[in-house]
Amino acid sequence: MSEQIGTALRWGRDRISACSETARLDAELLLAFCLDKPRSYIYGRPEQELSESCWQKYQELVQKRLEPTPIAYLLGRREFYSMEFAATPAALVPRPETELLVELALEQIPIEATCRVCDLGTGSGIIAITLKKQRPLTSVYATDVDPDCLVLARANAVRHGAEIEFIESDWYQQLPRGMVFDLIVSNPPYIAANHPFLAQGDLPAEPELALTPGTTGLEALEQIVSHARDYLVSGGYLIVEHGYDQQATVADLLKAHGFGEIRCVTDYNGLPRTSLAKLVENLNSGA
Ligand SMILES: C[S@@+](CC[C@H](N)C(=O)[O-])C[C@H]1O[C@@H](n2cnc3c(N)ncnc32)[C@H](O)[C@@H]1O
Repeated sequence: MSEQIGTALRWGRDRISACSETARLDAELLLAFCLDKPRSYIYGRPEQELSESCWQKYQELVQKRLEPTPIAYLLGRREFYSMEFAATPAALVPRPETELLVELALEQIPIEATCRVCDLGTGSGIIAITLKKQRPLTSVYATDVDPDCLVLARANAVRHGAEIEFIESDWYQQLPRGMVFDLIVSNPPYIAANHPFLAQGDLPAEPELALTPGTTGLEALEQIVSHARDYLVSGGYLIVEHGYDQQATVADLLKAHGFGEIRCVTDYNGLPRTSLAKLVENLNSGA
């Protein structure tokens, strides 16, 4: 038996509300996806009958949403910085907060001069690709330890025509010797391994490697900050996203490793989320 659009939406919303605070939106996105139409199509057509196959597919997706599977994985895409990226369970679902990191990075990258940027832990490639699209003269390198992430990131780079050098690497370890950058950016995993937050919402469906670096949650940030001076020119910048309660620790780490002019910006919820710092002294680099 098939259903009408309005009934199907209410059916989906009522079920999805068990796992999502945006159940109505989720139901609309899934139904529009099954109809292969924009979301606006379903407004004003509550009585239109769905085909049997569309209704079946919609029910399956609603069921998967309840597992929970993030909407981005079900649709196979997610918007970031007004661009559409492929999204798969290989990588973290892009977060709107990370647009702040991109904004901060763009402030540091000249529009009409060359610049070398490295994105550590690129995941689906959103940061690296957005920076390359916004600043085409920049040479962008992007690393991830997970080869499946790099497959997705490369596909996203091709999709957007962004020329990026992807390198499979454990943070800096596999970067070519002598390689230095004007700017290093990273949204690393930063949730402590036993944090109850990891069991909430859609997080259980996302890669553990993308969420938690170890017991303290600071392990990746420590690696990234403590070795940054080996890969930055003097006066270069490091920008990292971190947990809302890690601002002071990250600032201490930055100070301890030769950084100054430390600035932290808050996210859309007013939480300290992204820190930027300048390498004020670099004894390791002749650049
Ligand atoms: C929080 S996700 C961020 C992904 C993407 N940059 C974004 O903002 O959506 C962290 C990324 O770091 C990668 N990662 C974890 N450990 C790593 C390591 N030791 N070296 C390099 N990348 C690592 C994960 O695979 C994941 O893609």
